[in-house]
Amino acid sequence: MISHLSKVARRTFSSTSRAEIKKIGVIGMGSMGHGIVQLSAQNGYEVVAVDLDQKVIDHAMGAINGSLDKLQAKGKLTEEAVATARANIVTSTDVGAAAEDCDLIIEAIVENLPIKLDFYKNLGSITKSGQILASNTSSFPIGDMAAASGRPEDVCGLHYFNPVQIMKLVEIVSTEHTSQDTIDRVTKYVEQTGKVGVPCGDSPGFIVNRLLVPYIVQGVAMVARGDAKPDDIDLAMRLGAGHPMGPITLSDYVGNDINLAVMKGWVEKYPDDPAFQVPEAMALLEEMVAANKLGRKTGEGFFKWNGNKRAD
Ligand code: 3HC
Repeated sequence: MISHLSKVARRTFSSTSRAEIKKIGVIGMGSMGHGIVQLSAQNGYEVVAVDLDQKVIDHAMGAINGSLDKLQAKGKLTEEAVATARANIVTSTDVGAAAEDCDLIIEAIVENLPIKLDFYKNLGSITKSGQILASNTSSFPIGDMAAASGRPEDVCGLHYFNPVQIMKLVEIVSTEHTSQDTIDRVTKYVEQTGKVGVPCGDSPGFIVNRLLVPYIVQGVAMVARGDAKPDDIDLAMRLGAGHPMGPITLSDYVGNDINLAVMKGWVEKYPDDPAFQVPEAMALLEEMVAANKLGRKTGEGFFKWNGNKRAD
């Protein structure tokens, strides 16, 4: 463990990049995927935005165009910069379009490990050595996806945070097989998009989610037990701990389905770790997901939502 962490730390100080990343493919046009598309296009990268469902692409492009319009109206981007960002994006329903000539392919598909493993098996076979494959997974092991791809030296994690446009951090996750070249090239890309990259190893939840998801889920367990009302739990953490939003609002904001998927994955993989065993929270999250109360993305979760804002 210690030797792996020191390897991660050493990697950040190396400067042996072989070819600069110029073209990015982003697969999966949910809120994280389209945020990464916008961020990359605004910062001068050519981007291929891919989803199997054209309706999802249309929705994603609507969100990107709306956000670019807003940035222009606020004077944060010039008309020319907005036009360039738009021109930098092409869309496709075919993963092969991204695989063809993108230097970096960022995967932001559904948080389901068997689906991801199949996806990486295919992606590994249709891409060439030196094309980097990066997962934005919230919690699944990058090493499993790297092994499925058959090209583990080209695979790393690039973990973004919601909302991608605002949150400064990207966790740069390496496995013991990730090459130095891969890490150097993605580190430069992350810096050029104005984010701060933090290197970390391939441990459950990396850094942020290992701390944040159990915290959110403990908040949900308090709701399930009736220890305090959702609004009071949130108010307490905002005023008592200085968090920008409390854990229940954050659960809705990230998505109750995402938090459930993360916890379920951990319970399955680490059945003996007590930090992941929170049965009353899991039961409540299961109930909410079954009722489509996913939070912000479906307009209702623990609270009602209107776009990015809580409506009540
Ligand atoms: N997309 C784009 N822009 C957004 C946005 C969004 N979803 N939400 C807010 N903004 C912009 C606003 O337009 C505004 O821009 P302006 O300054 O130019 O007017 C700016 O951000 C500030 O917005 P608000 O005034 O609404 O902002 P708040 O001060 O209430 O901040 C927040 C909103 C940034 C979301 C803040 O509440 C926050 O930091 N919350 C915590 C978020 C968090 O913890 N994220 C991590 C979740 S974990 C995760 O993503 C990992 C995953 O794997 C689970």
